[in-house]
Amino acid sequence: MARIIGGIALSHTPTIGFALDHGKAQDPAWKPIFDAIAPAKAWLAEQRPDVVLLTYNDHVTSFFFDHYSPFALGVGERFEVADEGGGARALPPLHNHLGLAHHIAASLFADEFDLSTFQDKPLDHGCFSPLSVLCDHDGAWPMRVVPLQMGVLQFPIPTARRFWALGRALRRAIDSYDEDLRVVVVATGGLSHQVHGERAGFNNPGWDANFLTLFERDPQALTRLTHAEYAERGGFEGAEVVMWLTMRAALPAQVRKLHQAYTLPSMTGIACAVYEVDASSPLASEQQRARDHVREQLDGVERLPGTYPFDLARSVKGYRLNRFLHGLVAPQARRAFLADEAKACREAGLTDEESQLVLQRNWQGLIRYGAIFFVLEKLAAVSGLSNLHVYAHMRGEPLEVFLATRNAPSAVYSVAAAPNAHDTNEIPTT
Ligand code: FE2
Repeated sequence: MARIIGGIALSHTPTIGFALDHGKAQDPAWKPIFDAIAPAKAWLAEQRPDVVLLTYNDHVTSFFFDHYSPFALGVGERFEVADEGGGARALPPLHNHLGLAHHIAASLFADEFDLSTFQDKPLDHGCFSPLSVLCDHDGAWPMRVVPLQMGVLQFPIPTARRFWALGRALRRAIDSYDEDLRVVVVATGGLSHQVHGERAGFNNPGWDANFLTLFERDPQALTRLTHAEYAERGGFEGAEVVMWLTMRAALPAQVRKLHQAYTLPSMTGIACAVYEVDASSPLASEQQRARDHVREQLDGVERLPGTYPFDLARSVKGYRLNRFLHGLVAPQARRAFLADEAKACREAGLTDEESQLVLQRNWQGLIRYGAIFFVLEKLAAVSGLSNLHVYAHMRGEPLEVFLATRNAPSAVYSVAAAPNAHDTNEIPTT
């Protein structure tokens, strides 16, 4: 059974990563920060968790305002280090624990926590700044990391109470995962700071001390503050500490604080704390109920013949293929594809199997492999075929036979804008 063995809280200021990379850990300006982090690093090395679930916020690096969401769980296989303007730090990529990440997503949705998911996005200093000082990483990270990105930059954002509720749901999710895993939840961000406007440079060590005490002993009191109240006490950007509440709620009420340190070298109150918990497993019957609850919504779908739910496992497997076919919405990509299909597939890094499925317009094979229908209709449009061609092929029927089953057999259409783009009845086979 998976179980949470403790939590770590640490600021994610880029200062930390910068100092590490520039060999300044012993520099008087930075040494107090590294001294504050050392006990957390030692605890993590001693505990050797299988998985770290790391909560952080992106800083307008990989998550932009064209589509902003409050809670985004990393569900892809690996995550690279983001280039934030001056080149990416020389750190190894993170490797996710797909089984746990996908179970967490399913469990949260079952608990009506409708989060978003992401793959193929590099992660910025919000994640890598704390991680790089919390564990040695010579060539690879010593554990799997499930990243949970929290959009706290564009208001409205969830209430402190909602960050807390997410932590409770996370605990239920991890507790019900059926594999022996030791999990540490890492919260990042804060403490007091403000980095914009005339109030830039605001700090409040008194509030930071209060926050740390309440966080350990009466964390629910922190869920009653508004974002404005957090900003008043800890600076506008310091209000990101609401992210910590998710970690705290994932731990039981009673925690053993093994370490707490605080420094204020420049712009941000930097805290580092370690909380250990007694690993108590829920009853087997309780876990079974939780697993049944997670499966409830899709339970039975396997009995529907010819149905392939596009779930996270399918999405991860088919990601490269779906990304390539989705790319056909760009006229330039369409032209390159039509000029030399095999070359375009190769350049997109498709495997031979994936390329053959595309080149042969093997619609049924594409679906079975992991493509979603809505990129197939794009490929059909590019190929001068209608949606009806695709439906007929997936059913293994000639177009005329399938059309004869429709109430309006003459209704042949596609997502292509150009008229007569799908005026052929032949499905290419090569
Ligand atoms: Fe931040």
